[in-house]
Amino acid sequence: MVYTHILYDVSEHIATITINRPDKLNALNAGLLKEIQSAVTTGNMDDDVYGFILTGSGDKAFAAGADIAEFVNFNYEQAYDLSADGHAVMNSLENSAKPIVAAVKGFALGGGCELAMACHFRIAGKSARFGQPEINLGLVPGYGGTQRLVQLIGRTKALELLCSARMMGADEANDLGLINQLVDDEEVITASRSFLSGLFSKSPQAMAGIIDSVNACTDKHRDGFVTEIETFGKCFGSDDFKEGTSAFLEKRKAQFRK
Ligand code: COA
Repeated sequence: MVYTHILYDVSEHIATITINRPDKLNALNAGLLKEIQSAVTTGNMDDDVYGFILTGSGDKAFAAGADIAEFVNFNYEQAYDLSADGHAVMNSLENSAKPIVAAVKGFALGGGCELAMACHFRIAGKSARFGQPEINLGLVPGYGGTQRLVQLIGRTKALELLCSARMMGADEANDLGLINQLVDDEEVITASRSFLSGLFSKSPQAMAGIIDSVNACTDKHRDGFVTEIETFGKCFGSDDFKEGTSAFLEKRKAQFRK
């Protein structure tokens, strides 16, 4: 796929996806979301990619939401499809077998907040502002915000933020457990790369199993405990299990990636 709205770059086993509409505060149009989905699929098929960073270009925004200009005249069917397609993109990030870190500076609002929440980890700079301001437009969030915000910070604060449209600063996001790390703005990418690289020495097969089992926790169609039991069983046939246990018994560091 030729990318128009994002940049895609692979270095040191990290695929960096950069939302590239800084003049529109990286507002997410439908084509852009499809490009993110395609980039995640591409990286998952690329043996040289071990994990992803998703970020926004410029200093002002990770993404200031879905592109309001794009949907302003939509009817029910078009809006339904926009939301359903957006959900599919968010799910593809959440279900990525390789870890994804959202590196957030500036506004992460509406769809931008939902995109960050669909990533496995969030590392934010002090300028980060998270929020779901859709209610100001007479809308509910459409890319999973009513669900993932509750899952990540709990119903009490989630309802408050969804109903008030209040933006929360980086400190509050950190206190509520929405983000994994809070750093200076200039360190957001370096900290995200270092965090991801730290995961690369771990078993990628087990990590994919952990991501899938954790996702099953909030999937109403699956029993998370059963998923964990099945995944645990499957580990016993894996190369990583052989390597991890052999390395332990031989008192050496496991080398999971050949
Ligand atoms: N969709 C479409 N365009 C957007 C956008 C969005 N969600 N958010 C920002 N933009 C555009 C603005 O229209 C403006 O474009 P223009 O220069 O062609 O007029 C440009 O990005 C800069 O935004 P601006 O509003 O001038 O910046 P600001 O610093 O004054 O305000 C925000 C920043 C984030 C507070 C403000 O842009 C905003 O409220 N955005 C919408 C947030 C939202 O409701 N998101 C949920 C959407 S469902």
